[in-house]
Amino acid sequence: MNKLGCQSANEIIIFGALGDLSRRKLLPALCQLEACGLINEKSRVVGVARQTYNLEEFKAIVLENINNFVNETLDEGVLARFMSRLVYQQLDIKEASAYTNLAETLSAGNLSTSNDTRVYYFSTSPVIYGDICDGLNHANLIKDNDRVVMEKPIGHCLESSKVINDQVARFFKENQIYRIDHYLGKETVLNLLVLRFANSLFTTNWDRNSIDHVQITVAESVGIEGRWDFYDEAGQMRDMIQSHLLQILSLLAMEPPADLSAESIRAEKLKVVKALSPINCTNMKEKTVRGQYTDGFLNGVVVPGYLKEEGANTISKTETFVAIKAEIDNWRWSGVPFYLRTGKRMPAKHSEIVVHFKEQPHNIFKDNYSDLPSNKLTIRLQPDEGVELQMMNKIPGIASQMNIQENKLDLSFNDTYNDQRVIDAYERLMLEVLNGNQSLFVSRDEVEAAWAWADSIIDAWQATDEAPKPYAAGSWGPVSSISLIARDDRQWVE
Ligand code: BG6
Repeated sequence: MNKLGCQSANEIIIFGALGDLSRRKLLPALCQLEACGLINEKSRVVGVARQTYNLEEFKAIVLENINNFVNETLDEGVLARFMSRLVYQQLDIKEASAYTNLAETLSAGNLSTSNDTRVYYFSTSPVIYGDICDGLNHANLIKDNDRVVMEKPIGHCLESSKVINDQVARFFKENQIYRIDHYLGKETVLNLLVLRFANSLFTTNWDRNSIDHVQITVAESVGIEGRWDFYDEAGQMRDMIQSHLLQILSLLAMEPPADLSAESIRAEKLKVVKALSPINCTNMKEKTVRGQYTDGFLNGVVVPGYLKEEGANTISKTETFVAIKAEIDNWRWSGVPFYLRTGKRMPAKHSEIVVHFKEQPHNIFKDNYSDLPSNKLTIRLQPDEGVELQMMNKIPGIASQMNIQENKLDLSFNDTYNDQRVIDAYERLMLEVLNGNQSLFVSRDEVEAAWAWADSIIDAWQATDEAPKPYAAGSWGPVSSISLIARDDRQWVE
């Protein structure tokens, strides 16, 4: 991880600077880094987009978005400093010859030493990453110490991800490529490393001998937010499971890395994804559930079903919910299911991991308590971030019989660190890119291993051509997701 502070001057060039991600996340994140004094005084932020704007118009758009998406009030001086870094370059991103204009703009800056690094942030559709690389190469804009940041989804399947990765690899080496999965920048996801490897209590009880099963839920109350074209091609499997949920699973299940370096962490995460037990036509029905939301209620308001969303194709079979019983075929996890569940239009935005420990081998309280609930460790990823341990406790009192009760130790981050600002994932990841640290980014091998596993499930679904199971918006998914876990005599934690 970084040691706070931006060592060298960087030029940050954002392709797709007027797109949704850039407006909502990237530019506000950079402005927050400015407020923390973490951007080198010589660095410039160059927005590249197709639209014809002059610099003042671009600055006005950036300012409006900072006001909308940065929660804190920023100092006037900070804002002025950030605004003075901005440069705008109109460009047809697919037109290689146009990149000489970008080269001229960049050479007009005051950064000229060969040690200075350019960070090219591809915040566009991944299908044009290759075009951007061609353009940069055409204008002789790629140096060995430059970096490129790529947004997900990288491809639609293993084959298409290889094509995109190959296109970029023609000009950038793997140690120059930063593949974003913004979940890796979330405080609570990062805290998994600390929880697991800085607490001997968990380090020594983190395997098939102590753990019965694990549940990972990433629920969202939002629908597809006007992104029909993108989402209908992707579905929840490609949009969430292949990336975010597999990253959480990898951090949770990996062997202890030798250190915090990118090589060590990424190598261990990769082993987990490679050890995932394949799901295909033979076992897909018992191990997966796919659903699609229908009309329903959220917070008392009627919301339309997926097929009635704006721009919808009314016969789509795209899934908006997935539940999977994933298994990891290795010594540590053999026989321990990891139940994954994620969906749109669920009752609330609510992401958590629940680690269910095994029952006691012998119950000395059985005369009064035939069943002793086993310990549960809940890691609340968002919102209300925190860690909670459920354990048994004696109820104080004189009664001759021991009365016991399940209670929880609750470490709420909000209460414990109440004076700390919540750092946005993009802010953290942007800083790591500026500092040249790849440990929170996904390697090519990881992306490809994740696609290989996901593709097999998607192929099995397509082979049956069955429609996803309906669930009402505002519910926890189709009934069959309850059966998926109930077949193993377990139930989802609600
Ligand atoms: C994105 C997905 O990667 O993550 C979206 O494309 C999803 O569909 C989003 O809504 C969820 O991110 P977060 O940070 O709000 O949990």
